[in-house]
Amino acid sequence: MTDYVDHDMKVSHTKDESSRQHFVQGMRGYVLNDLAGHMKTVWERKVEPSFEKVNGRAPADGPEVHKTFKPETIFKFYSSMRCNTQEMVWRSVMPAVEREGEDLSRRAQVLSQAGDKASGTVATDPNFSVPRYVSELDVHLMPGNYHEERFDHDVTQGAVFDNGLGVFSFGLLGNRMQDITDSVSTYFQARYPDVKPEKVLDLGCSLGHSTLPWKDRYPDAEIHGIDVGGPCVRYAHARAQSYGITSHFHQMDAEHTDFEDDTFDVVYSCMFLHEVPNKNIKGVFKEAHRILKPGGVMIHYELPPNSMMSAYDGFYLDWDAYYNKEPFYKAFRDADAKAEIAEAGFKKDSFFEHVAPSKNLYGEDALLEAVNNKDATNNSNVGRFGDGVMWYFFGARK
Ligand SMILES: C[S@@+](CC[C@H](N)C(=O)[O-])C[C@H]1O[C@@H](n2cnc3c(N)ncnc32)[C@H](O)[C@@H]1O
Repeated sequence: MTDYVDHDMKVSHTKDESSRQHFVQGMRGYVLNDLAGHMKTVWERKVEPSFEKVNGRAPADGPEVHKTFKPETIFKFYSSMRCNTQEMVWRSVMPAVEREGEDLSRRAQVLSQAGDKASGTVATDPNFSVPRYVSELDVHLMPGNYHEERFDHDVTQGAVFDNGLGVFSFGLLGNRMQDITDSVSTYFQARYPDVKPEKVLDLGCSLGHSTLPWKDRYPDAEIHGIDVGGPCVRYAHARAQSYGITSHFHQMDAEHTDFEDDTFDVVYSCMFLHEVPNKNIKGVFKEAHRILKPGGVMIHYELPPNSMMSAYDGFYLDWDAYYNKEPFYKAFRDADAKAEIAEAGFKKDSFFEHVAPSKNLYGEDALLEAVNNKDATNNSNVGRFGDGVMWYFFGARK
């Protein structure tokens, strides 16, 4: 729900709107935990055994599971419930954001200019061209996507995403939606104590909830976030100023940034690559390599690749590519990121991948204990929004 929005860009929802948000949040918890569990039971007890009887083998991969499962009522019911609750997420928060749209824009400008709590910066570009793979879609069924602008200094899409994400994640991401980056950066710091970043960049930062935890981890570092969505970077900066966290936001394309060579110690992204076509991901890796200092580290949080998953888990995580307007998800999870990273110029033997237990769910001690556990990636909780979630990330050094 949106009760967690505790900064000065908060919008006021009516009681009916709040009730609707609680309802949608509960429904999503039911769909992603109970109904998904039930669907898996039907697969294991009924559909998979009959596939094996006919074919004399188990399904080879996610697409074969998908094809076999598609005619089943439970799959149709689950998919229909997920699509509907996804649309309801955005609908439950949009009325309040739209009512306050122009006021939010004014508040954002005041916060961005105020220097009393933080002294960050924000830069948008009136001539910026949003890549077609963003501008032609309403990604994950969010009307207006990340970039649509209706008036000067519009921040609406940032506010829709912030409030909607609160409903969408039903508390899994923590009170500032920080859990993924908080967990990943805590794990990273413990595992790589030799890295002491002076400058960190977050690609595809949207509201900055994946950017700001780096400042908690490395308080002396200069923190930057970029996004193609003008409303997102304006909103991100206002939100950060309100929290008193100095950070810098720019409207830029991660494939072609304006930063000088050798600028950053860490180039990070969170839930970003799967929304980018594979050929552009290769461009993002090359650009990250260019702007990293020698010895700098590139890190990406994502869902784990299909090569690490059972056929069923691969099918389950690829659902969004077919039904949730995330058309590049599956191709990304099928690709060989390790080879693409090496092609982009990173040191071949520097590739790493880890699973960080959610700090929000398991606590910091459990997270630090996991730092030496290298084989936890093939676990059906990894990347799966639901009880017991863990976060997968990978990267390499320049
Ligand atoms: C799923 S959101 C992830 C937001 C955030 N990092 C998080 O952890 O939730 C993906 C973001 O990437 C941005 N994006 C997509 N393509 C981009 C590109 N080429 N360069 C920069 N940002 C991009 C979108 O506008 C969107 O805000």
